Amino acid sequence: MQIKVFDSANLAAQHVSGKICELVLSRPECNLGVATGRTMDALYHHLNEDYKRQKLDFSRCCAFALDEYVGLDKSDEQSYRHYLNFHLFERLNFNPKRTFLPNVYAPDLDMAGHAYEDLIKSYGGIDLQLLGIGVNGHIGLNEPGSALDSRTRLVALSSATRRSNQALFKQREVPLTAMTMGIGTILDSREVILLATGESKAEIIQRLVNGDVHSSVPASAIKLHKNAELVLDRESASLLS
Ligand code: GLP
Repeated sequence: MQIKVFDSANLAAQHVSGKICELVLSRPECNLGVATGRTMDALYHHLNEDYKRQKLDFSRCCAFALDEYVGLDKSDEQSYRHYLNFHLFERLNFNPKRTFLPNVYAPDLDMAGHAYEDLIKSYGGIDLQLLGIGVNGHIGLNEPGSALDSRTRLVALSSATRRSNQALFKQREVPLTAMTMGIGTILDSREVILLATGESKAEIIQRLVNGDVHSSVPASAIKLHKNAELVLDRESASLLS
């Protein structure tokens, strides 16, 4: 795992945006694994700027979302479908028919998990998977204890995750469950970039970098990947020696 530390969250996001642009320029039909969360706001802002400046074409790319809450309407502002439409898919020229999330509206969510895995495979797999990290080390919504070979499935959210996402839901309850790509699904991607910024991520980043690969810190699994980059700002890297 390569580690890159930038002076600011902005520069870190700019770097990741640059990597996405390079990929789309060299392979316009690439498959992106896309993440949500506050950390991604800056990344998608820069990507939008780069897209306009470089006149990039995302219309042939596919985008596969990492995860989606169960129990929200598609149009709910807190659904990841809404987040991704708003921050990414509708700002850039993605073809809506090539943007995918796990189908949390299916009657059988086990089958929906398998179907998402099959869908990713049918498009040839993910070229670049973007990841954020939860304060408890989750990636996607693979909470601590998730198997390193897990696949897309229904999961229960931990209280740490629900607490940390509560601010976004204001007076409403954060959903109890979600569907997420598994850690095995993520590791199948040809390249993985984990972006973590801000002081609140410093402790988990220290555990990720200095600890062993263990299911208690799901993000540590990326150390098993041969093409993984951890992109940090000074604050999230502040506890690294
Ligand atoms: C959510 C998302 C994760 C994301 C994490 C961190 O739970 N499902 O994919 O990495 O939050 O979010 P933030 O960037 O807001 O700290």
